[in-house]
Amino acid sequence: MEAVHPSSAAPETRVFSPIFKYPSAAAPLLITQGAEALLYRSTYLLPSIPCALKYRPSKPYRHPILDVRLTKHRILSEARVLVKCRREGVPVPAVYALDEAAGWLMIEWIEGEVVKIRLNEWLKSRKEGNVADGVDAGELLDLMTRVGSAVGRMHAIGVVHGDLTTSNLMLCPRSTEGVDGDAEAPKMLDGDIVLIDFGLASQSQADEDRAVDLYVLERAFGSTHPRAESLFGGVLKAYEKSFKGAGVVLKKLEEVRMRGRKRSMLG
Ligand SMILES: Nc1ncnc2c1ncn2[C@@H]1O[C@H](COP(=O)(O)OP(=O)(O)O)[C@@H](O)[C@H]1O
Ligand SMILES: [Mg+2]
Repeated sequence: MEAVHPSSAAPETRVFSPIFKYPSAAAPLLITQGAEALLYRSTYLLPSIPCALKYRPSKPYRHPILDVRLTKHRILSEARVLVKCRREGVPVPAVYALDEAAGWLMIEWIEGEVVKIRLNEWLKSRKEGNVADGVDAGELLDLMTRVGSAVGRMHAIGVVHGDLTTSNLMLCPRSTEGVDGDAEAPKMLDGDIVLIDFGLASQSQADEDRAVDLYVLERAFGSTHPRAESLFGGVLKAYEKSFKGAGVVLKKLEEVRMRGRKRSMLG
């Protein structure tokens, strides 16, 4: 995380090109601030269409020419991968607009929450101990299955994410839910998986790259949700079924794990 407090940031007017002065644009609301980007909520075209605005401020410590080039590259590459995913039916936010020179990318607002938050809330509401033994382990396994097939679908079209964590997976409530009045209340882990944050993504069909994606996700699960780790196998099981080359990737994952273990032994 970057040590810049939102209140110490320059006024919002610096950034947002004319598009944010249009009456259709709601004043950008800062949602989160990561190491590389600030994420705002605003609206696009109509006040009723919410959007997410990802802004990459310039880094004062980087050479200005290099900085502009890097920012442009990241924004265009994130947009390119998102568009590819959309075209191929992989669940990601739609791209609405961008200005790579000004450093922003405007995408569809995804309702719901990141898996990290929902899963931790769910775990907190369970009793202590291993959730794999719990009566409602099925609910969690179901989430793992949805995660595994979403990642598999992304890999199948030749995209690797580069930063798969539970903060970069969103759970979006299903629009069909609650249509008939006496439907069951939605459960905490219900919803469709939407993949976000393609700033480090690339186009690759290499088993090695795919395996590293899975490894990063596995490690993220282990460190962020240790009590859910024992069910991570559910992700891999669904992944295996999601495309033809998945079995080879899982073999590769064993190698990647081994390398990871060696590395951590060497310190
Ligand atoms: N399209 C979106 N709709 C709703 N919330 C989003 C969207 N994109 C990102 N977010 C929220 O903003 C956070 C940061 O966005 P992300 O793209 O992951 O940037 P970073 O590179 O800073 O991690 C996400 O973890 C999520 O909570
Ligand atoms: Mg992120």
